[in-house]
Amino acid sequence: MDEPIFSVTKEHLETGLRGYPVGYCTTSFVDPQKGLFYMDQPISQLVELDPLEVVHLLYSGNVGSKEEMQAFRADLHKRAFLKEETLKTIQTLPKNGHPMKIFACALITCGMLESTGDYKEDCLNLIAKIPLIVAAAISHHAGWKLNLSDPSKGYIENFVDMLSVPDTPKEELLRVFKIFNKLHYDHGGGNLSAFVGKSVASGLEDLYGAIAASMCALDGPRHGKANQDCLEFTLKMLEELGENATVGDVENRLRDKLANKELVYGFGHAVLRVEDPRASIFYELAKKHYSNNPLIKMALLLREAGPKVLKENPKISNPYPNVDAISGALLSASGFNYPHYYTVLFGMSRVVGISIQILYERSIARGGKGVPIYRPKYFFKGKV
Ligand code: MLT
Repeated sequence: MDEPIFSVTKEHLETGLRGYPVGYCTTSFVDPQKGLFYMDQPISQLVELDPLEVVHLLYSGNVGSKEEMQAFRADLHKRAFLKEETLKTIQTLPKNGHPMKIFACALITCGMLESTGDYKEDCLNLIAKIPLIVAAAISHHAGWKLNLSDPSKGYIENFVDMLSVPDTPKEELLRVFKIFNKLHYDHGGGNLSAFVGKSVASGLEDLYGAIAASMCALDGPRHGKANQDCLEFTLKMLEELGENATVGDVENRLRDKLANKELVYGFGHAVLRVEDPRASIFYELAKKHYSNNPLIKMALLLREAGPKVLKENPKISNPYPNVDAISGALLSASGFNYPHYYTVLFGMSRVVGISIQILYERSIARGGKGVPIYRPKYFFKGKV
């Protein structure tokens, strides 16, 4: 009998399974002090790689030789189309509500019209098709022309070219979208969208349906929609304090907000106990290219003031900025000033990691038998 690795007490109940071991993740992990690793590589060492090299790392466990990458790219290019019927159906979806709903419906549509029913095939297919699915969903919602897909241009190059974002130089979008995409592929096994996707797939739902469920999980403001909310918060701070605000002004405003029980966005994380290294990478990019942008200036002031103010409350275990504190401001500074699409961009990226995690649980775990249907225990409490 193995030594227990975790003992469950009543205190663990009704805490969202926080920190509770559930299984193995073969793609990435989050160290509370060092942040995100894809395989055994810290995220800071992967920023210079091409997006598909990073995808290959997550999928195959290594960055891939020149020849391996050539074959991987060629394979994905072949898979990167959508049937006419799928595209047409996405273009008839209602535009009411948040675009994440269109995205989730688009994935369900793909499950009906594109699924092979084989997790490995669907995992690679979905990774290849996701730029087109997202470009179709956003273009439909925005009323933009969807340009023809040409995956040979590059994973994100093609995505940017499919979107007809008005009045924005493509190089700006490309610079930010490329890095945004790489930094959001995966975040360990236990984040809500990954967990939900794996749970749904454990009932043997097809990959597209499981990923649609993941994206509904990501849609919540405590998870992926936090990037949109953080941007709104940063904008509000800018509106309240003006472009010439000092770090002292920001500190005081944050103290007032906390005293009034108002929410302060962009700080803290379920696992991290330092500034999120993904945020650090974004801050550097923002300083390098957009240091005169008022929104970026405010995000940088918040980076300085927030931890100082939050540390005044000993109950706050992580007063440091998370990735959402800056990602929205950066997207906006690049000219993509459409906050309601930020979670969709997050989802487009996270689909990669979750699909690979699902593939492991369905086809490789437990000597190929796969993880059984998720079935945790709840104690009966009766009416309260
Ligand atoms: C993230 O990217 O920070 C997450 O998906 C949230 C988490 O790790 O729980």
